[in-house]
Amino acid sequence: MASYALSALLALASSTLVTAQVPTIEPTPLASLNFASPADLPYQVEPNPVVRGSQFGFNQCNSTTQNQQSLCQTMYVNSIDDFCLWGPDKPNSTISDTEGEEVAWCTKPHGARLIPNGALQGVQFLKAPDYILVAGFIDQTQVNIQDGDFGGELDPHGQDLAGNPMGGIVFSNAYSGSNTTYQQMVEWNLFIGGNQFCLKICPTGAPGNNPAGYCRNTLDRLGCSVNSPNNAQKDVYEVCDSADMDLPGVYVSNGQTITYTQPPESLGAITSIPFTATVPASSNCTPFSSAALYTDIASVSGASTTPAASATPSGSGSVSGSAKPTSGSATGSHSASAAGSSSTSTPNGAGAFGVSLVAGVIGVAFSVAFLA
Ligand SMILES: *[C@@H]1O[C@H](CO)[C@@H](O)[C@H](O)[C@H]1NC(C)=O
Ligand SMILES: *[C@@H]1O[C@H](CO)[C@@H](O)[C@H](O)[C@H]1NC(C)=O
Ligand SMILES: *[C@@H]1O[C@H](CO)[C@@H](O)[C@H](O)[C@H]1NC(C)=O
Repeated sequence: MASYALSALLALASSTLVTAQVPTIEPTPLASLNFASPADLPYQVEPNPVVRGSQFGFNQCNSTTQNQQSLCQTMYVNSIDDFCLWGPDKPNSTISDTEGEEVAWCTKPHGARLIPNGALQGVQFLKAPDYILVAGFIDQTQVNIQDGDFGGELDPHGQDLAGNPMGGIVFSNAYSGSNTTYQQMVEWNLFIGGNQFCLKICPTGAPGNNPAGYCRNTLDRLGCSVNSPNNAQKDVYEVCDSADMDLPGVYVSNGQTITYTQPPESLGAITSIPFTATVPASSNCTPFSSAALYTDIASVSGASTTPAASATPSGSGSVSGSAKPTSGSATGSHSASAAGSSSTSTPNGAGAFGVSLVAGVIGVAFSVAFLA
């Protein structure tokens, strides 16, 4: 905690220097805001102008804000059939260019955009004692992320503590025992890019009493394989119980517990790390078909004009079966080739997830800084 605060202060100090002549009101740290339920949210939780500009969208999301241009910035992580991701407002955007402005894209109506049908291409929902991890594969162009972008980390901190996206709020009903009772997830992170994602929520009150540790936000260059190890597989949809992972970046060497910190970007790409992040044991995995899970998005077409045939690998087939573009609200301008190339990205298998994330790490290292 102390080191987060320190690095955030240093980052804030340096960005303040650069723009010292611009009068700004300091934002309330996003991770210090607590809301008992979605009904308690103000229109914007970070209304004040900050160094990076004001909150892009809003937090009061309901049926009147439910559309494919929605700027809703409140998201839900409830279950394998009911979760949201952060993605850009405009097609063909990189995460690094838009990290402060991402909006919610959901599998069910929560007053936000719906993830287009066929965009999800395999999801593993892991329930661990100290966190829930939703990891999987996605045609990222359908949630407005530029083809080939290796993306980065989104979390409720950021250099001015207003979060990435600024004002992004996360709720879950997974811990309440009732589908209609929500708890705010103060600590969370999402890595998205390279046609993959890993979304973690770390509730307060969990047994390990360390939400900021399990949802650590200072290893942003190391991707899913280090921050959120998992066995997601292409075209496989499953819910599993999971053991807790080791705290991200914490390892034992010669009997000493060491907390790894990532080097500054000025030292170049990270080519090795002194520990191996292992996927924790999982059990009781229950498989699903995507058609059964994602009924609310079955007729939602994406910005991409993904031909049904090209989205059809073998396997469960559940993604492709319903991937026909429907008419209606297609908004975007993606070419078929952009969408098509994403289908060549990754073979099935947990190993592939790790390997391609190495590529992701390198890609992220070359891209603009992701501010922890
Ligand atoms: C729905 O959200 C809009 C915009 O955030 C807000 O102005 C409106 O009052 C909300 N409506 C209801 C019924 O809560
Ligand atoms: C609660 O949500 C889960 C996951 O979406 C669903 O399977 C279950 O039927 C819901 N329960 C009720 C009572 O609606
Ligand atoms: C996306 O943007 C890049 C560069 O900004 C451009 O070269 C490319 O043609 C765009 N792709 C699409 C599908 O619009």
